[in-house]
Amino acid sequence: MNIILLGPPGAGKGTQAGFLVAERDMVQLSTGDMLRAAKTSGTEMGKKVAAVMDRGELVTDEIVIGLIEEQLTTADAAGGFIFDGFPRTLAQADALGALLEKVGKKLDTVIEMRVDDSALVKRITGRFTCGNCGAGYHEEFKKPAKDGVCDECGSTEFKKRADDNEESLKTRLMAYYKETSPLIGYYYAKGKLQSVDGLGAMDAVASDITKALDKVS
Ligand code: AP5
Repeated sequence: MNIILLGPPGAGKGTQAGFLVAERDMVQLSTGDMLRAAKTSGTEMGKKVAAVMDRGELVTDEIVIGLIEEQLTTADAAGGFIFDGFPRTLAQADALGALLEKVGKKLDTVIEMRVDDSALVKRITGRFTCGNCGAGYHEEFKKPAKDGVCDECGSTEFKKRADDNEESLKTRLMAYYKETSPLIGYYYAKGKLQSVDGLGAMDAVASDITKALDKVS
């Protein structure tokens, strides 16, 4: 099954993609993670996108479509792909359709995760990750079992994303409403859209996503 998780910054796309990877052997394709990896490794492309991402603006369609094309043609995804944070513009959505057709795959469903802006601010500003293994946490909603120690690897180093602040979040939200939310109508018109309430607890959202996937499997 190939699916898109669509929603504003902090909607829980990465969190839910992680559950699906663990439970269904799916492959998560997060353009945000790919771009952050490029930033960290200091490639030419990484240097080019760093400031754009930190401000909360969108990286060019050309760059992200190239990243997805590379993964679609090389990754082995027996359980299917989860597109997380891609597509984000109508041009990216058209490109994804063409790429899937080229590799003989189809899009099964698009899950829109609906969350109020006020909840997003809290989710984004409270998010942090392990500096060693990348496990994700939240100051209120997902604390490590032992304060200051990563549950997964025992590291005591944690970090926050450069764009996880209120100023960048305003720009990210504007980009979402201006460039990405038109995809809701785009996929509705294609008969692919399903919506879930992303405001509930993580396991409640996961259960609603399971129900949505069951409808198309
Ligand atoms: P990207 O990395 O895709 O960020 P985003 O879309 O802003 O989404 P986030 O990762 O912030 O949120 P999420 O929905 O995954 O939420 P999460 O599960 O972590 O993109 C970053 C940047 O890269 C962009 O701004 C842009 O510059 C660039 N970029 C990326 N893709 C691009 C593209 N296609 N085109 C152009 N530019 C692109 O959850 C957030 C927090 O909330 C966590 O702490 C989590 O623990 C907590 N949480 C999750 N679910 C719940 C719940 N149900 N209840 C309580 N807390 C919860």
